[in-house]
This record gives sequence, C-alpha cells and structure tokens, in this order.
Amino acid sequence: MLGITHLRHISLITPNIDKQFAFYEKVWGLDKVDTPEDNGAAYFRGAGPEHHILSLHEGGNPGLHHIAFGMVDKNSVDQAAEILQSKNVIIVDPPGYLNKAGGGYGLRFLDPENRLIELSAWAEVHTSIWNKKNVDPVKLNHVVMNTKDLDMIVEFYTDVLGFKVTDWSEHQMSFLRCNKKHHSIAFNQGTHASVNHIAYELDSVNEVMRGIANVREAGLKELWGPGRHGPGDNIFCYFQDPGGFVMEYTCYLETIEDESEWQARVWKRVPHLMDQWGIAGPPTPEARKAMGGEPDPGWAAVNIAK
Ligand SMILES: [Fe+2]
Repeated sequence: MLGITHLRHISLITPNIDKQFAFYEKVWGLDKVDTPEDNGAAYFRGAGPEHHILSLHEGGNPGLHHIAFGMVDKNSVDQAAEILQSKNVIIVDPPGYLNKAGGGYGLRFLDPENRLIELSAWAEVHTSIWNKKNVDPVKLNHVVMNTKDLDMIVEFYTDVLGFKVTDWSEHQMSFLRCNKKHHSIAFNQGTHASVNHIAYELDSVNEVMRGIANVREAGLKELWGPGRHGPGDNIFCYFQDPGGFVMEYTCYLETIEDESEWQARVWKRVPHLMDQWGIAGPPTPEARKAMGGEPDPGWAAVNIAK
C-alpha cells in the first residue's frame, strides 16, 4: 500500500487571481503565507499547522493545478515512486526535495485523467499563533472531482493509491478515505474531468452559520445549503468564489472508528438523504452547473509537451 496519510492542499489555476485573492483573505477566513517566490501565485493557510491549504496560480483557463496528499516520511515517498512506476503511472517529478513553497520531500505524478497529484512528507508547518477571526477554516476537509469514468478512477485511487471506498451515492459519487475520516476525496460521475468542489473544515456549526453571514455581507450568496449530508453526516454550505470555483464550509464529518467492520453503503439520491434536515432541498440547476465546472484538460495537457 502507498501510505497516504491525509489531504494537504489544493492548487488552482485561475485567470481571476486578484478577485479570488481578496475573497479568500478578507471573506473566507484564510491567511496569505509569505513565500519568497510568488511569480503570479498566492498561498493561503488555515488555522491548522499545514504550510498552505490552497494556492492560486495565474493562468488562462480555470482548472486544477494539483492536489497534494501527505505521507509519513521520505522512505514512504521513495516506496510510493517504486509502486507507481511498477504500475506504469506517469511520474512528472521523481522523488526529491521540493523546490516549492512549503518544501518537503515528495514526488508528482499524473492520475489517469491527467490530474497532477503530489505526495509529500516533511513539509514545513506553522508554529506561529493564528490570529483568530469569527470563522477559522482549520484545513481542507475534502475535495470532490468530476470524472468521465467513475469506476475507472475509483479503481485507480483504491488499487494503486490505497484509498478505501467508504460510501457510494448510488452510482453517481464515490467517497474515498485515506484515514479514519469518512472521505478526503470523492469522485462524481460527470461528462468531463474537472473540479467539483473544495471543502474547508470549520470547528462547529456556529462557525458555518457565521461563515454564511460573512459571505452574504460580501454581496455573495449560498449556492446550496446549509444542510446536513447523509453520506458523511457532515454539515455543509456551498458557495461559488469570484473565480467560479465551488467551495464548501463543513463540520462534523463522520469518523470511521472500526474500519475492520466497515462495509461501504450505497446511499439513495433522495432529498432527505442529500440533506437530513430537509431545509436545503436538492441542489438547484445553477448549483449543479457550477459544480460541473468547465472541461479541465488537466495540468499536463498545458505544461507537458506532447
Ligand atoms: Fe463536500
């Protein structure tokens, strides 16, 4: 098994970096991390120790730059490289000390839909005091990606990367875990690969509600929610950032205490299971469209010469 420990950060390509920058810092509750080389990129941390949980990179079309997962140590990264190589996965950056914000020792590879994935260990952590706001996103809770082929991508993330399927939402979504939390990544069957949404973890429902107030005050509104999901049991509220990406405030995601007993469930896609409280209703066509995103050719299509 590969030994992925947790979700660390997501990096997005955006043509609207200035607007998004202001939003994440002034409204969403993240803090900019000072990095020596910015070069059209901005890095944001949450209240937790992770060096950054979001980075934005100036670019033509909005899409995914990469997703980073943590590993225990250098040895795990080196072993992961061997396993990936043996399974003919395209390794973009072989194992080495990362010359990137937050550093650490890691590698980067392409998943079968050209998503750039980073595995890293020994990255910098923050030890400085976090300046509390009325909403303090701690870390990324999960990311959801749209896929053209749900079964194929689930097979790759489980068989090759070692994730476990926690639950299905019919044959539409698959929730995958790499630790005791219900899911760190999920895939949604769509017509193309793209970012579906990015969820930030808050400590309490009070913070989720205060977060909604902050977003409203900034002149934006909820895209879907608040509500409480069936799969994962988490409280959610979805929004769209000024660059068009969908983000979620979430809290209370289910923990799988006894993994040996766990059987993946298949949840029906009915309103009272998408929101147990019965107040959010099903997502609107506008919300579905926003989460569907535009076809994302993947970082590799733009950056690796064919
Ligand atoms: Fe979510």
